[in-house]
Amino acid sequence: MTGKFTMDTVVSLCKRRGFLFQSSEIYGGLASAWDYGPLGAELKRNLKNAWWKAVVHDRDDMVGLDASILMHPTVWQASGHTENFTDILVDCKNCKKRFRQDHIKKNCPSCGKNDFTPGRPFNLMLKTYLGAVEDESSVVYLRPETAQGIFVNFKNVLDTSRKKLPFGIAQIGKSFRNEITPSNFVFRTREFEQMEIEYFTYPDEAPAAHEKWIADRFDWYLAMGIRKENLKLRPHGKEELAHYAAACTDIEYQFPFGWSELEGIANRTDFDLKQHSKVSGKELKYKDQVSGQEFYPYIIEPSGGVDRAALAFLADAYHEEKVRDDKRVVLRLSKDLAPIKVAVLPLLKKNSEIVAMAHAIKEDIQKQCACVYDDTASIGKLYRRQDEIGTFYCLTVDVQSLEDKQVTVRFRDTMEQERIDVSRLKEYLNERLLDR
Ligand code: GAP
Repeated sequence: MTGKFTMDTVVSLCKRRGFLFQSSEIYGGLASAWDYGPLGAELKRNLKNAWWKAVVHDRDDMVGLDASILMHPTVWQASGHTENFTDILVDCKNCKKRFRQDHIKKNCPSCGKNDFTPGRPFNLMLKTYLGAVEDESSVVYLRPETAQGIFVNFKNVLDTSRKKLPFGIAQIGKSFRNEITPSNFVFRTREFEQMEIEYFTYPDEAPAAHEKWIADRFDWYLAMGIRKENLKLRPHGKEELAHYAAACTDIEYQFPFGWSELEGIANRTDFDLKQHSKVSGKELKYKDQVSGQEFYPYIIEPSGGVDRAALAFLADAYHEEKVRDDKRVVLRLSKDLAPIKVAVLPLLKKNSEIVAMAHAIKEDIQKQCACVYDDTASIGKLYRRQDEIGTFYCLTVDVQSLEDKQVTVRFRDTMEQERIDVSRLKEYLNERLLDR
């Protein structure tokens, strides 16, 4: 069976194997806040590294940035968030539950009645205070998107990196939104991580750059292992475009709970640089070296969520198979994303020579990739455990290994096994795990 399972199956694997835990669990938990456990932290780190490599290191026209979460409050007036970053909220008069109006088809999803309060706007930005005095003058916001940190640094990056149009700035970081109805595990939470690109281009080249980024980002998800049938593009209708966008296309993934947005790729026009120039009084125009013309570049913004992507990769990788009379759960994560690449397993944990050889191999391999040693169960169980967390290769050290200095290498996806000389192991793994 592949793909036909519920969110509960993914959530249960994540909790059981330490990908994700409920935040503050020992105090009863905090709604919709999640902590990444040992395997989740590795997965998330691999995901962000793969994104950064693809959009910054593998290109000549991109640089990175790491801006602060707290920004001058006027940023959010200029960006339109103070005024426009709202959802319409309604309360069910019967069960008193609160919903986003656009999430309700007709009746209350909780009690089934159709008796709501009139819709009222609710600003999603989370507030806090800076300094000792908590009054209106000390209010700051936890950024609801990382994008604004890039716009306000446009000139700084331009002047220091000497980039010419078209070029882009990439950033990964936490964002916060006081979502009315956080839902579906890490799909919609109030604290989440974004991977955003702001790509600055000539206005007349913006539509072509937009199309190119849509294709590039779609291909990235495929290259990272998402099955094509679970991915689609959804261009926005005019009525749903954000106040700054001329066009937007979402990359949607078929989650166990239905098709939903994974990443949005918008043409933000020159809205942002114009607004920040106007409100800050600092001119953010670009001067073309050849024509001498000064203008506001257009911005193409591929904006994705790290947590949503992690959830999509986990859901897509989850497979249940029948092996003889047994059920095998296997996470077919790509080699770049798999939290652990290699597990070293001694066949007989009571044989000190086997154990010593296994430890020595592990010590050597962990210099080049994420590697674990495990001897806490029978070999069959150890294989299943590693399959379930997506470990690419299992290396088994047995009695024969002591004689011929070879180990059994078992590949996760096919369960095929071959004997490899220990002296060739590094090269063998390098060829299969490092090279693209
Ligand atoms: N700068 C543009 C922007 O923030 P967005 O569509 O609101 O656009 C971009 O957010 C991406 O951030 C989404 O596609 C999604 O992956 C992620 N995201 C947004 N809100 C989220 C939430 N409450 N929880 C988890 N991820 C979220």
